[in-house]
Amino acid sequence: MKLRATAWAHANIALVKYWGKRDLELNLPSAGSLSLTLDGLTTTTTVTFGGAASDTLVVDGSVATEPALGKALRVVAPVRDRAGIDSPVLIESENSFPTGAGLASSASGLAALAKAAIRAAGLDLTDAELSVLARLGSGSACRSIFGGFVQWQAGTAEDGRDSHAVMLFPPEHWDLRTLVTVVEDRPKEVGSTAGMIRSQETSPYHEAFVAHADQDLTAAREAIAARDLAALGRVAERSCLRMHAAMMAGDPPLIYLTSESWQVIEAMLRLRADGVPLFFTADAGPNVKIFCEPVAMTDVEGALRRVACVKQVIQARPGAGAQVVEP
Ligand code: DP6
Repeated sequence: MKLRATAWAHANIALVKYWGKRDLELNLPSAGSLSLTLDGLTTTTTVTFGGAASDTLVVDGSVATEPALGKALRVVAPVRDRAGIDSPVLIESENSFPTGAGLASSASGLAALAKAAIRAAGLDLTDAELSVLARLGSGSACRSIFGGFVQWQAGTAEDGRDSHAVMLFPPEHWDLRTLVTVVEDRPKEVGSTAGMIRSQETSPYHEAFVAHADQDLTAAREAIAARDLAALGRVAERSCLRMHAAMMAGDPPLIYLTSESWQVIEAMLRLRADGVPLFFTADAGPNVKIFCEPVAMTDVEGALRRVACVKQVIQARPGAGAQVVEP
């Protein structure tokens, strides 16, 4: 008998970054992080137990190999154990945005997978348990289970049961807009997992980055509660740049930001100096994300489109948490 379900989840962009693990197997973070779930960037995933001759992951029509398959199976394994399923799994995943370009497709992908897998297996989990399950595949995926403004609590338990995300504020709390600028749509050479391990093992700045996380989380929560864009921007930009500083100080150094990324950042800093409130962030890839209020969207988008290297601008509003589509 085939057990099948489909779910979707949105990507999330970290405002206080996750970069460092205290447990590599369980994806337990060195510190908490905070993100915004984005409605425009979606992964839809169908899980079919008994749907293939061996465990198979298909992403945007192509069969995926390691490390993507291994991450997916880390989510599927506990579901199979709990439900007593031993048939191979077919996972079919479609992204509404370029995969592997620093746009957090692994977060939406593994969150959608966790949601679809438990439904297909007929299990009932709380959102916190679902977040723990998604985390096993990819740390940042635990945040995409929830909508709006989300915090991933680092937790202290050795088995990771208290290391999951919680929703701080629903999407309606603040209509903060995101513009994702695509300057490069090819997958990156060094993925986040390998990059994070390199930073924590070799970068003398890594500990300093981790040491400031709690302070950043408090400041970000207060800024979001007050819908204070300038205050949130100060925290988000320093968390982002300190993370990149830690990466760059690794051995060998890890440089994700390109000259194109800096062209975007500089254009945005000029626009801000001209009086348009906004802030930027960037993850393990060259594509910079801009945040602003709805009234500033036209100015920000116009300025981004004037930067010659920008290939595409994707707009997003705060989005909802992962949902089952069928059955
Ligand atoms: C830079 O969640 O992709 O986007 O847990 O190893 O799968 P793994 O890493 P991943 O790392 C995301 C890193 C980041 C910052 C963030 O999203 O907080």
